[in-house]
Amino acid sequence: MQRLKIEGSKRLCGEIEIQGAKNSALPILSACVLTRDEVSLKRCPPLSDVYAATRILSALGCKCKRNGDSLVIDSSSIDGAEISDELMRRMRSSIIFLGALLGRLGECTLSFPGGCELGPRPIDLHLSALRQLGAQIEEEHGSLICRCPKGLRGTLVNLSFPSVGATENIMLAACTAKGETIISNAAREPEICDLANFLTECGARIKGAGTQRIVIEGVNAGSLHGCEYTVMPDRIAAVTYLSAAAITDGEVFIKGANGTDLEAVINVFRQAGCSVYEYGEGIYLNSSDKGLKSVGMVRTQPYPGFPTDAQAIVMACLTKARGTTIFVEDIFENRFRHVDELVRMGANITTEGRVAVVSGVRRLSSAAVFAPDLRGGAALCVAACAAQGETVISNVELIDRGYDSIENALAKLGAKANRIK
Ligand code: UD1
Repeated sequence: MQRLKIEGSKRLCGEIEIQGAKNSALPILSACVLTRDEVSLKRCPPLSDVYAATRILSALGCKCKRNGDSLVIDSSSIDGAEISDELMRRMRSSIIFLGALLGRLGECTLSFPGGCELGPRPIDLHLSALRQLGAQIEEEHGSLICRCPKGLRGTLVNLSFPSVGATENIMLAACTAKGETIISNAAREPEICDLANFLTECGARIKGAGTQRIVIEGVNAGSLHGCEYTVMPDRIAAVTYLSAAAITDGEVFIKGANGTDLEAVINVFRQAGCSVYEYGEGIYLNSSDKGLKSVGMVRTQPYPGFPTDAQAIVMACLTKARGTTIFVEDIFENRFRHVDELVRMGANITTEGRVAVVSGVRRLSSAAVFAPDLRGGAALCVAACAAQGETVISNVELIDRGYDSIENALAKLGAKANRIK
């Protein structure tokens, strides 16, 4: 198990360039299955989850190679329609291969995906939508056996919740389905737009991504071609480095970050007293010289609301804010596992169900802590930057799922952060 050692109480200042978005790269890598030639994916971050996706692609018969910051995927010779249990369990996003494989091969067998650390993560919306498109899916011994004997047919799919994963799976399956598919109450996250833009570059016909109504006009299977595409910047990594600067009274410029995608979070930083604005091609933040203040309530919601992925990170930032902030986690049942670790570092937080009450403290102190999940681990890094003394964070492998060397990024901003192998 690798650990991170962070010596806190250093003001973080400077500029860093943001990595490509994990939550965009993963569905785009699944989408490569639909194309018949080479895709060159630029700004594709070297994360363990991205590596897990390339292992799935290789197991299906694709050729994957890294070329600097690009990943090149050749899907011309796909010969497998089965994803092993071991590969499926590595990450939640593996389920997005379902729609892509049905679109490409008309069949596939895979097991239920992993990534249950945030509480139950059902896939009923994915399965029911794909069945509406004509897939026959049998659930047996933990496996999903999927076929579409009559091919996929476009239809109206009305989602009862704007699920990001279900929207992506439907988009992928619908690209080569016969006729028109309409997704109503679709997820509107920026990563959905990135996937739609990628698919459009490959020859798909998609309208309305970023709104609640996405319309996909099926094209001939076989007509989707390769392309060169640049993955969007990672908005949650951007929030992480903005938070680390805010809690240390710092001043940073996050090059490549997009302010529009982060409006809900930027509003919270502003309420906390920071100056934040879009400047050129990035986001600038200057923390308040009077210290942070509490912000009332932060409630996680589907986009354009406050993102659940930013909850733990911004909570860590506000542990030192004057006053009380209430966090309500409306997306996942069990997403406060970072709280106990933050309390070890001196934070004053109580939870009940989906509500956490954060009463600001004057100082955080170093401790030995454990990353409970990806964003919870990032939250501990943020707190460690402001804590007095040296914090050791274990279980760093979970943080590596989403960050391209978080310690190097923090060190670039002046933190004393090292990895202990
Ligand atoms: C979610 C987040 C996404 C984030 C990702 C990783 C939202 C809306 N989605 O995406 O921003 O990047 O986690 O942390 O914030 N659900 C069902 N049945 C389903 C699918 C989902 O009941 O078939 C429920 C889930 O239990 C959960 C909610 O819908 O309560 C969020 O689901 P969804 O958007 O599908 O999750 P992810 O795609 O994992």
